[in-house]
Amino acid sequence: MDVKLQEAKDSIRDIVDFPKEGIVFKDITTMLKDEKHLNTLVESLYEQYKDKGITKIVGLESRGFILGTVLAYKLGAGFVPVRKPGKLPAPTYSEKYSLEYGEDEMFIHQDALNSEDVILLHDDLLATGGTAKASINLISKFNVKNVFVNFLVELDFLNGREKLDTDYQVDSLFHF
Ligand code: PRP
Ligand code: MG
Repeated sequence: MDVKLQEAKDSIRDIVDFPKEGIVFKDITTMLKDEKHLNTLVESLYEQYKDKGITKIVGLESRGFILGTVLAYKLGAGFVPVRKPGKLPAPTYSEKYSLEYGEDEMFIHQDALNSEDVILLHDDLLATGGTAKASINLISKFNVKNVFVNFLVELDFLNGREKLDTDYQVDSLFHF
């Protein structure tokens, strides 16, 4: 891995037993607050996706909004939020997904995407894959041209990638 990317990866902080006992939380705030690392992340993702014809970034609430909008700006694309319950004001499509205990649901506006779109779905983290899978299902309700899926961090040991069960290209900048 490129030295700058390795330094960015090394700046991600482990928080033990957050949000509950037994979980080691990957805290990206220590990476994002450093202007060098932020620049490295954005430039690296820009290089990866600049020639894909991306028309819209779909960012997942809430940590997917952070770099999602920056990337949209850099790529000259639009930004579409996938949001948690009760946040989007116009008619929506929704998809439920399971959490360790219970269920949650993600929403997208029904007029957010169209058949001319090439989508880059972005979130900060792929863990069990529930959030991303629900969001891929939301995007598949629109007959878009193509979808790319990107995470800053993928927790390989949780096998979230298998749950995504998609033919779309899935890439993560950092693996743990
Ligand atoms: C975290 C993370 C991903 C998701 C990954 O979001 O930002 O979106 O969990 O987990 P999964 O792969 O097991 O679904 P969280 O729901 O904690 O909310 P936030 O982004 O609003 O902080
Ligand atoms: Mg999230």
